[in-house]
Amino acid sequence: MALRALTGIKPTGEPHVGNWLGAIKPALALASAYETYYFIADYHALNIIYDAEALRRNTLSIAATYLAFGLDPQRSIFYRQSEIPEVFELAWILACFTPKGLMNRAHSYKDNVAKNLEAGKDPDHNINMGLYSYPILMAADILIFSANVVPVGADQKQHVEIARDIAERINHNYKTGLFVLPEPKIDEHVKTIVGLDGRKMSKSYDNTIPLFLDEKPLLKRINQIVTNSQNPEEPKDPDLSSVFNLHKLILSESEESELRSRYQVGGLGWGQAKKNYFEALNAQLQGPRKEYQRLMADPGSLQTVLAQGRDKARAQASVFLEKVRSTIGIR
Ligand code: ADP
Ligand code: TRP
Repeated sequence: MALRALTGIKPTGEPHVGNWLGAIKPALALASAYETYYFIADYHALNIIYDAEALRRNTLSIAATYLAFGLDPQRSIFYRQSEIPEVFELAWILACFTPKGLMNRAHSYKDNVAKNLEAGKDPDHNINMGLYSYPILMAADILIFSANVVPVGADQKQHVEIARDIAERINHNYKTGLFVLPEPKIDEHVKTIVGLDGRKMSKSYDNTIPLFLDEKPLLKRINQIVTNSQNPEEPKDPDLSSVFNLHKLILSESEESELRSRYQVGGLGWGQAKKNYFEALNAQLQGPRKEYQRLMADPGSLQTVLAQGRDKARAQASVFLEKVRSTIGIR
């Protein structure tokens, strides 16, 4: 039987080129080798989004994004976390086996504490229990579907290890193999994608290239990529250029080496280099953009797809949770 891969996507805002090449594309590629589960981690987003309209909109937008890039809901199970109540019951069970110290050591909690201390504030300033127990809910997401592998960015590796740790504790206590021990899967080829200013592309730096801009604003955004003051004739070092570093990500190997030498011989000005990147990117985004717009204009069809995913997911989750209840003596 095929191994299971499962990954969650937090609906936190407008998806950008970094999300696409760093997360969406590699996650969708797994569908050919694994039984795949993709879900929208809407209750994980509640941790930071306290605006109901924004949460609703982001959730639909993420669903439309994955479908527009080719997620096939017949082949993969695609659902919203909040529609699987079994996940939240399991999260409580897991919490009862999770040492508080394990949560104290979780990176994102620790980072927040460190920032507070640096700012001379109370260590727990602005830290809610949702942030603190975030890894437990994530463990429930993973364990309820017996996922073997969990494709994530490097920042999420520790969370998958925590899920594994909790699963081992329960298996050990009840002398069972009920919980599958998940492995993080970190794509080593995917490097940090740079943004307009050369730092990591991220919503928090306002340096992104949003995926579904119309052509004009897309070109405008690409024209904002920071370059040096070399004039068109000068040979340029491609590896030092954010335009090249972004462009190469959507090229084949031979196209990349051809573009590399065009930079190196000179004669390629920044304006032209950006225009070339715009054309290549736009060609790849045109199809998904149209499909995204179609889906966003028809939220009913998105809800239908997600409802079908929910039914498939719940059918499995409820059987598994019943086994857990019986193992621990609740049934
Ligand atoms: P942002 O930093 O814009 O808030 P998120 O944290 O929501 O982005 O990222 C969602 C996923 O997209 C993450 O799992 C991460 O792996 C991927 N991702 C985001 N930005 C980049 C980037 N610049 N390079 C590579 N991957 C990225
Ligand atoms: N924590 C993940 C992130 O911030 C999202 C997520 C929630 C997730 N549950 C998950 C990822 C389960 C993988 C598996 O990106």
